[in-house]
Amino acid sequence: MVDGAKKKLILDLDTGIDDALALAYALGSEEFELIGITATYGNVLVETGVRNDLALLELFGRPDVPVFAGVEHARAKDSFEVLEISAFIHGRNGIGEVEVAEPKATVQTKSAVDFLIESVATYGEDLVIVPTGAMTNIAAAMEKDPSFAANAHIVFMGGALTVPGNVSPWAEANINQDPEAADMMVRGCADITMIGLDVTLQTLLTYEETKKWRALGTKAGAFLADATDYYIKAYDTTAPHLGGCGLHDPLAVGVAVDPSLVQLLPINLKVDTEGATRGRTIGDETRLNDPVKNAKVATGVDVERFLKEFMARVGKVAAGANVSA
Ligand code: BDR
Ligand code: CA
Repeated sequence: MVDGAKKKLILDLDTGIDDALALAYALGSEEFELIGITATYGNVLVETGVRNDLALLELFGRPDVPVFAGVEHARAKDSFEVLEISAFIHGRNGIGEVEVAEPKATVQTKSAVDFLIESVATYGEDLVIVPTGAMTNIAAAMEKDPSFAANAHIVFMGGALTVPGNVSPWAEANINQDPEAADMMVRGCADITMIGLDVTLQTLLTYEETKKWRALGTKAGAFLADATDYYIKAYDTTAPHLGGCGLHDPLAVGVAVDPSLVQLLPINLKVDTEGATRGRTIGDETRLNDPVKNAKVATGVDVERFLKEFMARVGKVAAGANVSA
């Protein structure tokens, strides 16, 4: 890396309320330059995700960040529809039914997959990719360019190793969208960090924090507070024992910026693609004795330090501070 140059970041989002919080966390992190967003599906269709990404980049003062449309459905399917539970948690528009101004910028003509491949070829060690939705774009990039898997550094939100899943007793939502793609990624990429429900359900946000954003009196602060309150309200119904909403996707960005926020277990992973456990992330028994482990799974998190970082970084964006690259 050229002295003084920042590390680069790509977010692969299905935006989504916690994806929007992850975007704000990334923009509030001066250590990294966000070079692009690639849109995937999950909480929303790719088309809706693109629209949300463009609108939020404008709202957060960074309309210069390019947005690329990704693959629209899972490898084993030929279309995608938003699940009722996703619409309940994130709203039909993905951002808690909060209205944001129509973006002036438009989606790039280059595909998300080509952007991912070219960025890895250009920046190598100096780039981290953070997928927080279906892993379909990553698998497509692996397939199109065999050097992608060897050179990409990936910190993804998804999976559950030590706790049950959130769409079935085994499967977490992002993995469940496209188990085949996730399996390709965790087996085939040389550097994988998994930020799963094991840790993201320990990092919770409450109405106490969102009140602080609203009190700033900014458009960005009002959006972040209103959308996150919608998300917390959904958690009040689906997981009332938690007492807040899970900061799934922001934690993945947090770890990309500062891996010391979590404890990591080196492991060779696989994703079950057959039977009742389809979508489960688990150790790959065929590589148990392989001394080389290509993945690390977060099994513990410094909750207090992460929440402090989260409020500081997202707070900058909420306040309407200049978050230029
Ligand atoms: C993951 O699923 C999506 O709903 C969230 O945005 C997050 O990426 C949590 O299981
Ligand atoms: Ca997401």
